[in-house]
Amino acid sequence: MNNISKTDLDLLKQKYDNLDPIIDKINNNYPIQYLIGYVDFYGYQIKVNESVLIPRFETETLVEKTVNYIKEKKLLNAKVIDIGTGSGCICIALKKIIESLSVSALDISSDALKLAKENAKLNKVNINFILSDIFKFDTSEKYDVIISNPPYIPTGSICDPKIEYEPYNAIYVSGNPLKYYEQIFKLAKKIINPQYLMAFEIDEDESVNLYKLAHDFFPNEQIIIEKDLANKDRFLFIMND
Ligand SMILES: C[S@@+](CC[C@H](N)C(=O)[O-])C[C@H]1O[C@@H](n2cnc3c(N)ncnc32)[C@H](O)[C@@H]1O
Repeated sequence: MNNISKTDLDLLKQKYDNLDPIIDKINNNYPIQYLIGYVDFYGYQIKVNESVLIPRFETETLVEKTVNYIKEKKLLNAKVIDIGTGSGCICIALKKIIESLSVSALDISSDALKLAKENAKLNKVNINFILSDIFKFDTSEKYDVIISNPPYIPTGSICDPKIEYEPYNAIYVSGNPLKYYEQIFKLAKKIINPQYLMAFEIDEDESVNLYKLAHDFFPNEQIIIEKDLANKDRFLFIMND
């Protein structure tokens, strides 16, 4: 049997009368988080199902670092957009931590947005959800903070078997592995206010290329790559001085 923590086993016992089929699923790499039905993200309860990526620890670090930059740059009343919101974990945590933010969140998946809306309600936060493809998104709104954990694993990569149960479109990028970032940079030129912050989760193997791409788009700005807890390049921040 795969390792299951006592806490997870207790949660499963509370939810299911017969654990045998559940244990079988877990042994076939089915993610335990989908069986439990929610995760703890930055201390907030976030419901998950097969229509959303299971929030990762690294993404909690993205939130933590972004909160620090928002405070440092005095963007406490910022208009924020979370691009590729999935379960809504990022935008909900941001809004819980800094209530004065005005937060929007976008995703191409209506099923993901349905769950993100439930999560916003569960956590009692007001978020403006937008159903849109980021490659077609157009708006006259302006934002001060853009945050995104876009799909960044190149198709064909060999990954943890558990991710085969997560939505393909949430994880994999085909063709140019930086295409989501490039699209968001293009959009930012149009929708970002003069005092701004952009925060991204990234693939450690693409940090050098991504730094160059960011520098091409924003040659006069502060561009910072930061590491995750496993000491891998995992975050990109772009801001003005
Ligand atoms: C890596 S997941 C991130 C989910 C969540 N923000 C998190 O950090 O756990 C990427 C998200 O981007 C969404 N997505 C993929 N392609 C998109 C597109 N073209 N336009 C908008 N959202 C897209 C997926 O549906 C998915 O929810």
